[in-house]
Amino acid sequence: MKARLDAIIQREQAEYLDQLLTDADPLLAEMEKDAAENNVPIADREVAKFLAITARVSAARKALEIGMAIGYSVVHLARGMGSGSLVVTIEPDEERIRRASDYLNRANLMDGVRIERGKALEVMPRLNETYDLLFIDAVKEEYKRYLDLGLPKLRTGGVVIVDNLLWGGRVAKPSPDEDSSTVALREFNQYFISHPQLRAEVLSVGDGLGYAVKI
Ligand SMILES: C[S@@+](CC[C@H](N)C(=O)[O-])C[C@H]1O[C@@H](n2cnc3c(N)ncnc32)[C@H](O)[C@@H]1O
Repeated sequence: MKARLDAIIQREQAEYLDQLLTDADPLLAEMEKDAAENNVPIADREVAKFLAITARVSAARKALEIGMAIGYSVVHLARGMGSGSLVVTIEPDEERIRRASDYLNRANLMDGVRIERGKALEVMPRLNETYDLLFIDAVKEEYKRYLDLGLPKLRTGGVVIVDNLLWGGRVAKPSPDEDSSTVALREFNQYFISHPQLRAEVLSVGDGLGYAVKI
């Protein structure tokens, strides 16, 4: 249990942890720069690393990602899982798909990635594989439906990771004029934590990271 609620994570610690995360990989650095310059929302570095580590430690062979953007998290998942594995990722934005394909080709990962074009709620019902890992990172108001559609496709013992569950702190700070994403994420967190098919928690990693195993 935490000694104080605000013991983790204060600005000083966040800044310290940030400077520990220097990444030597030029492709990832280029993707981070591209995302920052073009306003593309991608996972925080520590979240992306967490994905790669979880993919490796859980020996995942097949992952489903909802929300690819330019492929930053896909690179981490695919590298974490290693050769012979598959990341299926869903993205509706053609320009982002074009840029992601370019990065994934340059990273030599395209053989292990299948991009599903379209909106997740339309694409997911026609996917019939079983996955070892599910990563949710698209429309916040749709998170509950992604989980409902994704869980039957996840094997028992499979991992669920969900990004942005603290939503810049807004989820933990009710206000009269909050946006629909904040409201949806607060409801989602309750649903996720108490889901009978999951052992779940929300970690203070990045923007708040849901982490669960299917039981
Ligand atoms: C936060 S970004 C994903 C970032 C990516 N996972 C990463 O960390 O590199 C969310 C993505 O979801 C996509 N998106 C928007 N609506 C969607 C939908 N209905 N289904 C699936 N993806 C959607 C957006 O175009 C955007 O690229």
